[in-house]
Amino acid sequence: MTTPSITREMFDDVMVPNYAPGKIIPVRGEGSRVWDQEGKEYVDLAGGIAVTSLGHAHPGLLGALTSQAEKIWHLSNVMTNEPAIHLAKTLCDLTFAERVFFANSGGEANEAAFKLARRYAWQHFGGEKNEIISFKNSFHGRTLFTVSVGGQPKYLEGFEPAPKGIHHADFNDLASVEKLISDKTCAIVVEPIQGEGGILPGEQSFLEGLRELCDKHNALLVFDEVQTGVGRTGHLYAYQMYGVTPDILSTAKSLGGGFPIGAMLTTAKIAESLGVGTHGSTYGGNPLACAVAQRVIDIVSQPDVLKGVEARSKRLREGMEKIGQQYGVFEQVRGAGLLLGGVLTEEWKGKAKEFLNAGLDEGVMVLVAGANVVRLAPSLIIPESDIDEALVRFERAVAKIAG
Ligand SMILES: Cc1ncc(COP(=O)(O)O)c(C=O)c1O
Repeated sequence: MTTPSITREMFDDVMVPNYAPGKIIPVRGEGSRVWDQEGKEYVDLAGGIAVTSLGHAHPGLLGALTSQAEKIWHLSNVMTNEPAIHLAKTLCDLTFAERVFFANSGGEANEAAFKLARRYAWQHFGGEKNEIISFKNSFHGRTLFTVSVGGQPKYLEGFEPAPKGIHHADFNDLASVEKLISDKTCAIVVEPIQGEGGILPGEQSFLEGLRELCDKHNALLVFDEVQTGVGRTGHLYAYQMYGVTPDILSTAKSLGGGFPIGAMLTTAKIAESLGVGTHGSTYGGNPLACAVAQRVIDIVSQPDVLKGVEARSKRLREGMEKIGQQYGVFEQVRGAGLLLGGVLTEEWKGKAKEFLNAGLDEGVMVLVAGANVVRLAPSLIIPESDIDEALVRFERAVAKIAG
C-alpha cells in the first residue's frame, strides 16, 4: 500500500513551499479512522478541512465513483452530461436555487459568484454599481478576486494590485455595513459562520439585517457556504437554519466528500446575466465529480443523517467543553453542528497549532482556525464510539501541554 521510497522530507525538495504539511503521510482511510505510512492509526476530527463529509472510503461513494468511471470520465462543457444535470436538479429541488454553475473548488465557485454579482448589476443598473462589501477576517479562497474579497490582508500581501471596489465591514456589526453600503453596492458577501476566521457564527439579526440592506439597495446577498454547506450545521445549508435566503450561494468542500467539486447556486433571473460565453471551466460539471456529489447529497439530505449531526455535535461539544474546563484551555466551544471551534483562553492564545500537533502524537487529527481556535469538522456520520475515542486521545494531548 505505501511507497517506501516516498518520504515527508522529499516534499521540501520537490514542492513549492506554500504549505507546511505535518510530519506524517496518511496512506489509508476508512470511516473516521486514518492510517499513516508507519501503520499508526488516527481518529479523524478534521475531515481534510471540513471536506470528507461521509468519512473515508464510504461504500456508497466508492460505488458512485467506480460505476461512473466505467461509463464516461469527461466530456467538457461542449457537451453536457447526465450526472451534472441530475445533480443540478437535486440542488435546485432542495434549496432556493433555480440554476447551478459547477466549478472544481470553493474559490472557483466564489469567483463565479462575485463575477455574476458584478455582471448582474452592470446589466440591470449600469457599470457604476460594482462595489462589493465583505467582512474582516472572512475567507473566500485564493484566486486574486477571492483573496481581495476575503478579509485577511495577509493573503493579499505581495499580490497587489487587487481588484477595485471592495470594502470590508465588521462581522456581526450591521452599523459598519450601513456606513459602507450605497446604491453603488452590487453585493454583500458573507459566510453565515466565519470558518477560517475562527468558527464565528453570524448573529440572526445581523444576517437578517444584511438581507434587508441588500433589498433596500438592490444589491445581491451572497452566502459563502463552502465550509458551512452540505449538512455541516445539521441543515443542508446554513441559510436554512437561519431562515435568511441569499441570492447566490457557493458550495464546495463537503459537497464532493473528498472528490473536487464546487458549485454556485442562484435564481433563474440572476443566472441570466451569465449568458453563453461569459464564464466557464474546462472541468466544471465533470461526470465523476457530479456522480460522487450526487451520492453525497442523496445521503446527507436524509432527515436521519441531518438529525444525527445534532446528536454528534452535542456529544463532541460537551466533551470538548469538559476538557476545556478541566485544563483551563477553552473559554468557549462555539459553532454549529459538526463545525466546532474551541476558543483558547488568554493563557493559550496563539498556540492552537500546538494542540493540533499534540493531537497527532496522541492519534487524533484536529484543525486550527487561525492561531486561537482549535477547529473540529469530522465526518457527519462519525460513529459515536469514534467521538469518544477521539476525546480520550485529545484529552491526553491537552494534558501533555496544559496538565
Ligand atoms: C468559506 C470558504 N470559502 C472558500 C474557501 C476556498 O475553498 P477552496 O480551497 O476549495 O478553493 C474556503 C476554504 O477554506 C472556505 O472556508
